[in-house]
Amino acid sequence: MRYVLQLGIVFIVVAVPASAADVTFDKDVLPILQKHCQMCHRPGEVAPMSLLTYEAARPWARAIRTAVLSQKMPPWPVEPQYDHGFSNAARLTERERDTLVAWADSGAVEGNESDKPAPVIFTDGWNLEPDLIVEMPADFHVPATGTIEYQYMLVKANFPEDVWVKAAEMRPGNSKVVHHGEVWVLPPGSKWMSDAEPGVSYPQTERPKIGEDQIDILGKFNPGLGAQTFEFGDSAKFIPKGSDLVFEIHYTAVGTPQIDRTKVGLVFAKGPHTTRYFTSYGPTAGNLVIPAGDHNAEVVSEVTATTDMKLVYAQPHMHLRGKDYEMRAIFPSGESQTLFKSKWDFNWQLGYVFTQPVDLPKGTRLIGISHFDNSSANRFNPDPTKEIRWGLQNWDEMSNCFIGLVFDAQVDPKKIFVRSGPSLLPTGPPGPTLAVLKEDATK
Ligand code: HEC
Repeated sequence: MRYVLQLGIVFIVVAVPASAADVTFDKDVLPILQKHCQMCHRPGEVAPMSLLTYEAARPWARAIRTAVLSQKMPPWPVEPQYDHGFSNAARLTERERDTLVAWADSGAVEGNESDKPAPVIFTDGWNLEPDLIVEMPADFHVPATGTIEYQYMLVKANFPEDVWVKAAEMRPGNSKVVHHGEVWVLPPGSKWMSDAEPGVSYPQTERPKIGEDQIDILGKFNPGLGAQTFEFGDSAKFIPKGSDLVFEIHYTAVGTPQIDRTKVGLVFAKGPHTTRYFTSYGPTAGNLVIPAGDHNAEVVSEVTATTDMKLVYAQPHMHLRGKDYEMRAIFPSGESQTLFKSKWDFNWQLGYVFTQPVDLPKGTRLIGISHFDNSSANRFNPDPTKEIRWGLQNWDEMSNCFIGLVFDAQVDPKKIFVRSGPSLLPTGPPGPTLAVLKEDATK
């Protein structure tokens, strides 16, 4: 393997264009756009323009030059000194960046058709080839204006047998209005949403997730997130027989009435597996208080692992006042390590796939440390004069981190963490719920 890689490097050195004038779209630029840009820059995706073809990309040559030199594109917020290696890291190599710049500087030439790589095929927009697609059973009618509470819709999937899932992708029906969303797995016996009418959309205030700690997320959608794989070693995601699904979606109004019918696509794995991939809330600061005007409020929350597990994925979540998020592990040995630190940008909300899964032995404390700018210097701040607490809407705040964990398939996910200290699940306004949650987590 190493031998092959070295050959590759030799090849690359030889292939550097003799002068900028030799750089063409077909030969040099298109392969880079395919690898790093087209997942977002194609019709129906999050970016405002397509970079699929020369015709589409040519007018953007100068803007591409600026965006890659400033490292605004492709977006990747992990701070380099706390970046331990993420397999989905969106970073151009120096050579790729130089090639895009040289192309823009030398007249953005098209080149020879025969040099073009084969186009990347996106089947019906999916980034994977689903074995099963589950769609919301009814449209959600998005009003033209106003604030829309998180919406929950039950799908009576009633899986006829235990199912193992290799990969999943949640795709908005209408990407103009779907800000982000999750598909939750409700195993038989779940309390939350069990009395809901399938296909009816319930606002969050009518169906809060009270008491539902550690239910699994099957699929997630955030702009640019793409499909998620659950294969790490022997792991896959487990859907117990009889489970139903709940679509949770945060819609934003866009000035005209819209409809949406979001779906999730699943790729099955042969089961059973000895380890399962579980998507959980990590440290969650449901009791946060951010003083008015504070330009650097720190919020800390933590969970303690009650079983051996591996951390394979992390996706912080904050709102408009968020600045940065750090996750630290304090191992049973007492050793402490920053697992990543990333800048926060509300528009992106990317997730990070660890190249080397992080071992979290039983007793490891996972600490989330976030900073908020609630001053008027933050141009996204809806109101610097207000003290801010936990809440679902963008003008409230959150500090939590979705994490992907791999652990023994026999372990009950309800018992993987003890939540302690100032860490609460987002079950409502701040209050004396800690005891209840602690009990819930250790049941
Ligand atoms: C994760 C999704 C994503 C990826 C990957 C991505 N972009 Fe973007 N890009 C966006 C979005 C969304 C916008 C519009 C919002 C913004 O400007 O922040 C954008 C804007 C741009 C702009 C306009 C910038 C401006 O200031 O007006 C350029 C140019 C651009 N992207 C080029 C690229 C190139 C080149 C790549 C690959 C090397 C790339 N993007 C990768 C999502 C993406």
